[in-house]
Amino acid sequence: MEDIIKMTGVTGVMGGPGVSGMEAEGTEYGAVGLDVGTSRIVLSNGSNGHRSLSQLNAFVELPYSRMTEASLNQNKVLYRRSGKSIYVYGNDAEKFATAFEPRRSMQFGVLNPQEPMGQEIIQSIIESIVPMARRSELICFSVPGKGLGADANLVYHEGVLKRILQSMGYEAKAVNEGLAVVFAELQNENFTGIGISCGGGMCNVCVSFLSVPMLTFSIPMGGDYIDSSVAAVVDESVTQVRLTKEQYLDLSRSPRDKVSGALHIYYEEVLNRLVDKLREELESARNLPKMDRSIPIVLSGGTAKPRGFLQKFEGILKSSDFPVRISEVRLAMDPLTATARGCYIAAMSEVR
Ligand SMILES: Nc1ncnc2c1ncn2[C@@H]1O[C@H](COP(=O)(O)OP(=O)(O)OP(=O)(O)O)[C@@H](O)[C@H]1O
Ligand SMILES: [Mg+2]
Repeated sequence: MEDIIKMTGVTGVMGGPGVSGMEAEGTEYGAVGLDVGTSRIVLSNGSNGHRSLSQLNAFVELPYSRMTEASLNQNKVLYRRSGKSIYVYGNDAEKFATAFEPRRSMQFGVLNPQEPMGQEIIQSIIESIVPMARRSELICFSVPGKGLGADANLVYHEGVLKRILQSMGYEAKAVNEGLAVVFAELQNENFTGIGISCGGGMCNVCVSFLSVPMLTFSIPMGGDYIDSSVAAVVDESVTQVRLTKEQYLDLSRSPRDKVSGALHIYYEEVLNRLVDKLREELESARNLPKMDRSIPIVLSGGTAKPRGFLQKFEGILKSSDFPVRISEVRLAMDPLTATARGCYIAAMSEVR
């Protein structure tokens, strides 16, 4: 596995027009990683330069007109037409977000049952960033751990994604999101430790021992919960709250206004729930191997990005007894691509 990891560098995330119709250029090692997240879908593969590509997992519905369609084509905007509507999806959906509230194909880490267009949109987004397979390459894709919000429908979600990827010529295999974080970040610790991804729809956790997932779970709280809770109490749109959060939130300083005050409060709530649940799960786990050393925790996902997040997590962790000795808590090298990269590493380890 060491060799595999040396070959996988992290690159910046690119958006823009997709690669629909392209062949599997860059899958020369026969492996691809795909993070299918509630907010973003991220590809990681071994193309020269080890690239990653991402698209927002969101869309807006516009009324169809020939003029609109021609102008979207001219500007290379990703869309699909269905009946009297045009659905603009991926990063381009953001351009319309102030006028049209974006819709989401997923909720709490799985397909959104309330969204009739969900499957078609996910398929379109995947086809825009994942090249067609040439010879049944292996693609590993992320799935959440069980929890409130992602339980029985997890089987359906995984099945639908498998079918989409198989229709593109791949052999498809699901990987738990927390374990993917372990693969991406804990190679020097023999893949022993706790991988946590705090994303848009949820937080995912995996306690891994020598790359074997001993305990996995999720809580249905993440960036979306923070955005909608804050929007409700400060009377702002969810999109506006999200943009403010992504640009300005600093959890290491006292809040300066009403929005940042509310963001601090809901961030603390999510972190408290996450640490409480982790403690509870560890205390009740029966099959955990005896760890003779202390183990690290790696934090990843877009919700872990604000300055001060790591310190807040550490503060809550230290505020009461924890059942396992922790050597350090650190942030993933690139919190937005770690899951995709971990999926890539999982796929590489099977094909080599
Ligand atoms: N700089 C930032 N500061 C704060 N939040 C951010 C930042 N960048 C992204 N986010 C938030 O991170 C979340 C998306 O993270 P990520 O892409 O890891 O989620 P995801 O993998 O799509 O979702 P999930 O894993 O829950 O299914 C969104 O709520 C977004 O607003
Ligand atoms: Mg995620």
